Amino acid sequence: MKFLLTCSAWLESIAKSEVIKQWWTISEVKDRLVFFEWEKELIAKLNLWSRVWNKLYIVLNEWKNIDTFDKLYDLVYNTDWKKYLNNPYPIVTKATSIKSIISSTPTIQKITKKAIVDKVTNKSWDLMLEDSNKPIFEVFSFFIEDSAYILLNTSWETLYKRWYKTDTWEAPIKESLAAWIVLLSNWRFQDNFYDFTCGSWTIAIEAAMIAKNIAPWIFRHFSFENRNLLPNGYFDNLKNEAKSKIYSKKYNIIASDIDEDILNKAKINAKNAKVDDSITFIKKDLRDYKNEKVSWTLVSNPPYWLRLKNLDIKWLYRDINIILDKNKDLNWWIITAYTDFDNIINLSKYKKRKLYNWNEMCYFYSKKFETNTKKQKKYFNK
Ligand SMILES: C[S@@+](CC[C@H](N)C(=O)[O-])C[C@H]1O[C@@H](n2cnc3c(N)ncnc32)[C@H](O)[C@@H]1O
Repeated sequence: MKFLLTCSAWLESIAKSEVIKQWWTISEVKDRLVFFEWEKELIAKLNLWSRVWNKLYIVLNEWKNIDTFDKLYDLVYNTDWKKYLNNPYPIVTKATSIKSIISSTPTIQKITKKAIVDKVTNKSWDLMLEDSNKPIFEVFSFFIEDSAYILLNTSWETLYKRWYKTDTWEAPIKESLAAWIVLLSNWRFQDNFYDFTCGSWTIAIEAAMIAKNIAPWIFRHFSFENRNLLPNGYFDNLKNEAKSKIYSKKYNIIASDIDEDILNKAKINAKNAKVDDSITFIKKDLRDYKNEKVSWTLVSNPPYWLRLKNLDIKWLYRDINIILDKNKDLNWWIITAYTDFDNIINLSKYKKRKLYNWNEMCYFYSKKFETNTKKQKKYFNK
């Protein structure tokens, strides 16, 4: 079976490495897309363990040079729908077109739906109904440079929005991005891990979940369930196995923020994620770290001038620079949209790259590769 994993921009290399780690064969990596092949049981495993990607699709059909709507109709019609649509589920069609002759996404959606309904409808099927209470059969027609992919969404809602966040604050970091940086940081779990502007604790919670080997989606339902796609009980067994592999060990994650209200919300999130035993909550101004030794790993997402206008942001970043510079052994990773940081830190010593947090462009700063490990180089040099 052929699969497609989608992820945020720049996260492809780590998504690919996570896939390769399981010995699956990668067939193609494009911008935000990782194609690979494996047995269908993977649907359950990958959704359950998905930390950095957005959705997992089955590639039902694909063809190059789909440059007319008739060709699209034929491609969809000739797909083996009965194999997957073995019950009357409401169908939702979605579409995206990138650099392709066929570019009207509403028309692509309509044609896709018509071809499916023409192929499989009979009186007992209620395919056109879009009832939000039923599990949705989401078909995604994806066009890129005139190649069309007819995809079945196995994940349902996107996988970067974690279940543990009952409440957030301004400017939370995207969970998949937080997990990506933690994986990249090569944090050795027995050592200290800091986030000195922790907000609603996304980075600290993702770090603790990685250290404790908690499958990120252990408490969630997916659209592949109840579809007769997998043997009976397969997914339940997988979840039980994942639960039995959670480490009960506590870790030393220090999450601090200047704002007490946000920390109270963050505590609830950490409790929901069942990692509150490994995160130490501290109300603290990051400037206080100037007088302390900060060792091992620091991953942080300090405030952006865009949102927090009243802060004297320049002075705050100068203090951040002092802390980073003073603690020579510290392995640090900073994500920020504050572009003047370039004029504060000595860029020749550090690495900077562009990223997107939600739709906001930001920058990711870290020490140069010479000081980083082989694994980190591999993730960067995709
Ligand atoms: C961009 S938000 C961090 C969001 C966080 N990564 C999350 O996912 O929720 C920046 C945080 O920095 C905190 N902050 C602002 N000034 C600070 C200071 N001087 N010391 C410590 N924290 C500060 C704010 O309260 C805010 O929670």
